[in-house]
Amino acid sequence: MQLGIRTNPTNPWILQEKEFNSRYLGKVEAVMCQGNGYMGVRATTEENYVEERRDTLIAGTFDKFDGEVNELPNLPDVTEIKIEINGQILDLNQGHVTDYQREIDLKNGLLTRSFTWTIAERIYRLKFERLVSMANRHLIVSRVSITPLDGQAVVMVKSGIDGQMTNNGASHLVEGDKRLFDGTFMQMLTRTSESKINMAITTCHKFKTADGHDIKQQMEIGRRQVFFKFMDTIAPQATLQFTKYSTLVTDRDNDYQGQDLGALQQFGLTLLKVESAKTFKEQLAATTTAWHRNVWDYGKLQIESNDTDDQVALNFARYQLAVSTPVHDHRMNIGAKGLTGEGYKGHTFWDTEIFMLPYYIFTKPEVAKSLIKYRYLGLSGAHRKAQANNYEGAQFPWEAAWPSDGESTPVWGAADIITGRAMKIWSGFIEQHITSDVAYGAMEYVNATGDDQFALDKVYEIVLDAAKFWASRLEYNGKVDRYEINDVIGPDEYKEHINNNTFTNYTAKWTLQTAIELYEALKTNEPQKFAELNHRLNLDLCYQLWQERVNKIYLLQPNSEGVIPENDTYLSLKTIDLSKYKSASHVGEIFNDYNLDQISKIQVTKQADVLLLLYLFEQKFAAKEKRINWDYYEPKTTHDSSLSLSTHAVLASDLKMTDKAYELFQRACQIDIGPDMTSSNDGTHSASLGGIWNVVVFGFGGIRLLGTTLRIEPHLPKAWMKLSFEIFWQQQRLRIMVDRGHLSVQALNATAPISFEHRGKQYHLDGNESVVINL
Ligand code: BGC
Repeated sequence: MQLGIRTNPTNPWILQEKEFNSRYLGKVEAVMCQGNGYMGVRATTEENYVEERRDTLIAGTFDKFDGEVNELPNLPDVTEIKIEINGQILDLNQGHVTDYQREIDLKNGLLTRSFTWTIAERIYRLKFERLVSMANRHLIVSRVSITPLDGQAVVMVKSGIDGQMTNNGASHLVEGDKRLFDGTFMQMLTRTSESKINMAITTCHKFKTADGHDIKQQMEIGRRQVFFKFMDTIAPQATLQFTKYSTLVTDRDNDYQGQDLGALQQFGLTLLKVESAKTFKEQLAATTTAWHRNVWDYGKLQIESNDTDDQVALNFARYQLAVSTPVHDHRMNIGAKGLTGEGYKGHTFWDTEIFMLPYYIFTKPEVAKSLIKYRYLGLSGAHRKAQANNYEGAQFPWEAAWPSDGESTPVWGAADIITGRAMKIWSGFIEQHITSDVAYGAMEYVNATGDDQFALDKVYEIVLDAAKFWASRLEYNGKVDRYEINDVIGPDEYKEHINNNTFTNYTAKWTLQTAIELYEALKTNEPQKFAELNHRLNLDLCYQLWQERVNKIYLLQPNSEGVIPENDTYLSLKTIDLSKYKSASHVGEIFNDYNLDQISKIQVTKQADVLLLLYLFEQKFAAKEKRINWDYYEPKTTHDSSLSLSTHAVLASDLKMTDKAYELFQRACQIDIGPDMTSSNDGTHSASLGGIWNVVVFGFGGIRLLGTTLRIEPHLPKAWMKLSFEIFWQQQRLRIMVDRGHLSVQALNATAPISFEHRGKQYHLDGNESVVINL
């Protein structure tokens, strides 16, 4: 695979940079971002550079700047360490750098950077190691080693807490107390200006010198900054090593029990005292164990491929999802750029339900459940949005921040290339399929896990409330006696203000149909729950309405060639030669030639739209129908959204176009680690990372949830000799192994019988039984 980041052919857990380039810092910072779902810390260098994007983000700490929408504030930084050696400020653009290497170990999130720096005719070896602990989510630990190779060195270091961080200039933080405890632990308090979340950042340093002498630190307090400064003289070939421990806590954290600022101060300080008593080695061992226990022990996945980077891409995708998924707190969800950058302000989109939720449903269902609880908590905001638009029920926000916030999409975006004016972002107003997507994701969880209790507690209500919204949203067209949904944006965001987007109408209809079935089942089987929901949601009345309307929802019919129209007008628009945009190295190339208004008049699609529908409702469409629509839409799709390639790859795999599927899979993998060195500056693409797993397990592995039936029909790409992975199904674990001739499915300590379907035949397993099927 062509990559912009180096890999190690013998260790699929390593991503590397072998040459420092201060122009392309953003990509490496995001791709090697460290985190634990609570916080994300970009892999910035200790010394600073003009092009750096130094971000520390904590999930759920949303704040508004000057009337803008909520965003995750860039928090006080503890990663920067200013180093001066023999009067030379460390700066890799000066002097000469050899033996350079920056590396992330995906297995435990250890970031290492080392190099030899020659300046003013003197040579130094430096090594930096950093981890964001998976064992204690509040903790960052850095270790710095400085060795003068050819003479003694006088080293000056300035290291502490920098609260002058901004989100592209927007400052969210109000300065609080700055203090030193026990002459060792320095602390800075800060508060977000609008949401008033208090935070305590506490830091200390521990030193190791060759002869064990003490190093005296001097504290320096500036505006929104606290630092220690220290100086030491290092003998030739000797090493000065220091470890910096920092804890970050907020009064929004669900493991913080205190009431006031004093308690928060103590919380951060106590954590730091405990953690800094452990060595770097001990911290690394603890985080390594936690990565296994929390992440790698679930959904184990191995690929034997001619291209070893396929496995790296999978490890990377799973690493990144773990960095960015707030598994510790169901009041938070995954951002479209995770915790890896300021892009999309930390907001959650449909990306979660359609692209990332499947990974968790099948590998760690408790996380999927937490992500769905977030939507349940979001019902109040969804009700407000519906009411503001004169609808009923729950209209989920296109972009979501804190669950009760409701719609959080910004209103204005980038400048239009023709008019030069800021373009209105219509998605928050009219990209309404999100409401069905949320319901769809929640039902997928129930169907795959059989978690009936959670379904009763939360999921059914989400679906019923979503159906209530759709029933009120439908527009009756009396001339033809049908319900339409006009003036929307579908998944293809290159078409705004369109009527009857097939994806939107189809999924709205599915939501109503599902709600009808749930109403009937609840009324019969769960009378108490039914009575409670009926009282709150007025279900009897809704049911009548749903029944009247559901079969009159307008679905555009395929044309004479079998092409399902994306919307009312798509098929009548002009076509142009799109080859230039389809082969461009950057996304959005088409905007250099056309503005959105012009693009909306061309048969060009940003991302899977009709094809996504065919993938999500796979058993509803025949293979022939899928193929016709693939042939029609793929050539018209620029894949300008990172959500596009993985969907196309699964579909291509389903259609047995395995070479094409593999090509698209590799392109999906390249979105973040590929050769485009600016693609991830604002953060990595969470939906695409979930999508990579979807391609492997749903596409090549052939796993599919058909209603409540598990189907397994693998199609290995030619380059792969073997694929094995584990999934959860109905609360049981299965190991699936596919090679060129066999499919083997093994139950792992099953406590109930497991059934699956392969080419129309049913198989049953129990205990540790396995079945081997010739392919
Ligand atoms: C895509 C959306 C997606 C959003 C966040 C946009 O470019 O068109 O479908 O939800 O990015 O990833």
